[in-house]
Amino acid sequence: MTSQKNSLSNTSDSFSNSHDPVMVNEIVECFATVPAGVVVDATFGLGGHSKAILNAHPSLQILGLDQDAFAVASAQRMIVEDQSVRGRLTIRRARFDSLTQVLEELSINQISGALFDLGVSSPQLDIAERGFSYRNDGPLDMRMDQRGEVSAADVVNTYEESELAHLIASNADERFARRIARAIVAARPINTTIHLSEIIVSAIPAPARRTGGHPAKRTFQAIRIEVNKELEILARALQAAIDATKVGGRVAVLTYHSGENRIVKQVFRSAENDTDEPKIGSPYVHESQLGQRRARRVRISQNPSAKEQSENRRAKSARLRVIEKTFAGAVG
Ligand SMILES: C[S@@+](CC[C@H](N)C(=O)[O-])C[C@H]1O[C@@H](n2cnc3c(N)ncnc32)[C@H](O)[C@@H]1O
Repeated sequence: MTSQKNSLSNTSDSFSNSHDPVMVNEIVECFATVPAGVVVDATFGLGGHSKAILNAHPSLQILGLDQDAFAVASAQRMIVEDQSVRGRLTIRRARFDSLTQVLEELSINQISGALFDLGVSSPQLDIAERGFSYRNDGPLDMRMDQRGEVSAADVVNTYEESELAHLIASNADERFARRIARAIVAARPINTTIHLSEIIVSAIPAPARRTGGHPAKRTFQAIRIEVNKELEILARALQAAIDATKVGGRVAVLTYHSGENRIVKQVFRSAENDTDEPKIGSPYVHESQLGQRRARRVRISQNPSAKEQSENRRAKSARLRVIEKTFAGAVG
């Protein structure tokens, strides 16, 4: 299968533009062996991965989650307009760390797996008014959930200089974080993405600006992570997904930067190493299962093909990690 482009027309209640799902063939293959049932697409976006999974695996249904109202609206349109997904796709507007509550509300006891395609979608980046882009001028927003109380303008205009420096360094490994934080504080108030971008660029020494992509990219990423609490909630959400997954089911995660990589590695490694022995004599456990690992890593860390990396800019930094549940019950 070739990479499929999922596009929706530009209307006021849906995403405009398009989003090429990253490593879609590998994701489809990853769910080929899971038991029949519901796979949670925890980051539905434009639903490219979900649609590919539904098309390839008739025994699976998708429960899509997204905190962005526009993504949810586009899913609702897909359900109405696309016969191939109707009756097999459910969508909920929710942040993915509320997975357990959503499953309870829908009376779903166990899932066949989950997919997390982290970060922002192409439409979020491309629509200037969303304020994620350092290239298109817009308000400093960056909230994936438009009901959120903290916007990028709040972070940029109210955080202490030391807090800013810390988050820019830790969320994006930016080596000029202190200089950038100082320049931001000196230039306040800052209300637009291009103004912020110019301040960041001017704070970085000229020779360093010429390498590593757009000089404002890392700082924008760091602020976006702070606004959406992306790293704070990830471990909890992954843990909940692994816990809810049936034996033979899989949890797949696409990450795009080192902060995400560290958390996924940690959660997967601890799930894999968890051999908590159930009590001998427990009526639910057969002797042969004692000491068995609760999960095994199927893909430690896989990059997209060179072809995909050259064709899809979002794929360049992507890493796919997959874990399979090998023993029933919660991990950790
Ligand atoms: C990279 S895009 C996913 C693209 C999707 N796989 C596709 O094929 O179209 C990430 C999406 O996840 C959503 N998202 C990110 N973090 C989230 C979270 N913590 N909870 C719910 N949705 C989230 C974003 O709003 C965005 O729509």
